Parts: sequence; C-alpha cells; structure tokens
Amino acid sequence: MNNVVVKMEMSGNRYNAYDSDGNKYTSEIGTGTRKRAYETGMALERRTGKGGRTYWWKVPMDVYENTSAPVIDVSSVDVPEEHADMLNFIHSSYKLKPIGLVMKELKWKYLIRSAVRGKNILMTGPAGCGKTMAAKSLVNSLDRPDFYFNLGATQDPRSSLIGNTHFDKKKGTYFSPSLFVEAIQTPNAVILMDELSRAHPDAWNILMTVLDAGQRYLRLDESDGSETVKVAEGVTFIATANIGNEYTSTRVMDKALMDRFIIVEMDVLNDEEEHGLLNYMFPHVDSDLLKSIAEIAYATRTESRSETGRISNGVSTRTSVEMAGLMYDGFGIDEAAEVCVYPQYSEDGGMESERTYIKQLVQKYVSDGSSDDLFNEDEIEANHEGAA
Ligand SMILES: Nc1ncnc2c1ncn2[C@@H]1O[C@H](COP(=O)(O)OP(=O)(O)OP(=O)(O)O)[C@@H](O)[C@H]1O
Ligand SMILES: [Mg+2]
Repeated sequence: MNNVVVKMEMSGNRYNAYDSDGNKYTSEIGTGTRKRAYETGMALERRTGKGGRTYWWKVPMDVYENTSAPVIDVSSVDVPEEHADMLNFIHSSYKLKPIGLVMKELKWKYLIRSAVRGKNILMTGPAGCGKTMAAKSLVNSLDRPDFYFNLGATQDPRSSLIGNTHFDKKKGTYFSPSLFVEAIQTPNAVILMDELSRAHPDAWNILMTVLDAGQRYLRLDESDGSETVKVAEGVTFIATANIGNEYTSTRVMDKALMDRFIIVEMDVLNDEEEHGLLNYMFPHVDSDLLKSIAEIAYATRTESRSETGRISNGVSTRTSVEMAGLMYDGFGIDEAAEVCVYPQYSEDGGMESERTYIKQLVQKYVSDGSSDDLFNEDEIEANHEGAA
C-alpha cells in the first residue's frame, strides 16, 4: 500500500502539511504533531494501526523526497517491513535530539531503540548531568501519549500510584484510581518516572510487578487475590536515578528493581563539551568566561574522581549553567562561585576543607584586575622569587 507522506510548511503561526503532489492534510493531523515534525525537520507518514485507527508517524525527510526509497538499504538482510521501519527510525533518530541536549549519538540511539523496543529504561548518573532532560527529550521525540510522575516528591506512594478509597454517604465506599493507573492502561503510553532512586521503598514494591516483563500488572491491594490492573500493550517506562556512574547504585536501590531495567548511563561532560553547551546557551556572554566555568567544573570532577582527591563531588552541569546565567546578568566568576558553588562544599577542616580547596581553584580563574592574565600558582611563586 502506498502511504501518504507529508512535509510541514510554516505559514504565519500555522504548520501546514502537504504531500508531494500538493494535497493538503493539515486538518487530519494534530497541531502538536505537525509542530514537532516541523521543528525536527521530519516528514509524517500516514499509517494504519491495529483496529484500523490511522495515525501519523515521524519519518526522515528522505521518505518524503522519494517516497519509495528506503533510508537504509536493508535489502540484503531479510527483515520484515515493520522491522525495516524500525531500523530507519532508530538510525535516523539523532536529528530528533534537541541541539541543547549534549548526548553522544550512540547513547541517544540506544535510548530511542530501547523505547521503541518497549524496554524499561533507567537513566543513571550523578546530580545535574541531564538525566531528566534526556528522558523528557526522548518522550517528546516519540509521538505517543506521555505521562510524567516525580516519584522523588511523592509522600504517599500508595495514593499516587494506586489511588484512594473514599467514603460518600450516598455512594458508600468507592475507589478513585490514580493518574498512574490511567497511564498504564493507555496503549503505547510513555511513562516517565522521575527520581525513582529517591522514591519511597513502598513505591518500589508497588512497581515490582508493573515492571516485570512476565507480570506487567498493578495490584490494587496488598491482599492476595485482590484486583489487578494490566499494563496496556506498548507501554514504555523511563525512570531516572540520581546515582553515580559507578555501580554503587544497587546499595541505594533494590537490586531486584534495578534488574527490571536496561541502564542508560548519562555521560558527564568534559570541559570542551561543557564549554560548547555554555556557548550555545549563552551566546552573549564572553566565551573566555564560559571557558573558565567549564574548566572549573571539569577540574572539580577530575579531582573528585581521583583517589587522593580533596573533594567528594564535582560541580554539576546544572551548576555550570547557573553560573553562566549569572555571568549573563553581569556577575563576576568569583561572585557566581560564591553563591552557587561554595555552599555545596563543606567548611569542616578549615584550611584542609573542601571549601578551601574549591576557593583556591576558583581564584586561579579570577582576573587580578591589573592585567588580563589569570592567577596561576606557578606564576605567583615565580613572581615572589623574582622579587626576593
Ligand atoms: N547533558 C546535558 N546537556 C545539556 N544540558 C544539560 C546537560 N546536563 C545538564 N544540563 C543542564 O543542567 C540542567 C539540569 O539537568 P537535569 O535536570 O536533566 O539533571 P538531572 O540529571 O536530572 O539531575 P538530578 O539528578 O538532580 O535530577 C538542565 O536544565 C540543563 O540546563
Ligand atoms: Mg532529574
């Protein structure tokens, strides 16, 4: 069957959809779908799902330009048509990644692949390294119904994940299911469970059966034989866990729960990548200043990873971005560090404290005001020697 493939064109604030013969399909396609396709430079293909429902699927622009040509030559491999579609989608998916999210191509594709394959995905990494951002970007890239739950913020896992029992004089006792119950019953839903590592252990217990490939149901009550809700076809779970990239993780989160996920480890950015990100985000801030921020952050990360390191944590990308925001608003590096970096480091131990270490590090990057040179311990020493 020859599917309709359309390309979006912007007119005013409207995104119109035309096929290559100029037929207009705008009214058949949701506004959000058209907008996302336009913004990511993708075409849309009309497809028919199970039960005869038609939907519009993002495909690479090549498909629009030559409707019959496959993007990847899979003719030599015996793959079913649907699989060919999936391969094309995965391998052309890097353009769906927002430019503002720094993530390596392989990692991103692995993320997309895991989602289209219906895996449970756990994004791991230290604080502020882009886990939530990557998970949200993935959700946005998939044209599927999505739900967001912050499990780190739930005080009462039972009512957030299952629901509440109420009493009403007329109706008597009745049960009102949670949004989560609705989410798992939505076919093809993408369900983001943010900060799973900070969730209450009760939440982990409730999720055990939900996430188990062989079970995929939610029990509405602890008692055996109580009512259960099935996870609908095609539902994908993405969770984030604020745990270091070294697998100390299992100590923080239950091993059995961890085992139910495939793990996508977020890479912590190096100085060049971080500088690139800051330049992209703050084009109006002096690039050398941004470079200093990136270098400070990178130095702290290296130091914290070293066995003899004097600090236990590195400055996160989130903090770098905050510092750059302060530069944009006219603050100096020393001021930005004072308000957003120093408070993260303990003063215990006086001259040996983490705070002292970090202050000395930042000072190397603060201009002395009399010249353009940056402070540098060696130079200072050399100057002293020269003066003596
Ligand atoms: N890899 C990255 N690419 C682009 N921006 C990033 C990246 N990592 C962090 N940031 C910046 O830092 C901010 C915080 O990122 P995010 O909320 O995704 O971190 P997180 O890993 O979820 O942290 P937490 O563990 O505290 O939940 C983002 O809004 C973004 O500005
Ligand atoms: Mg987060």
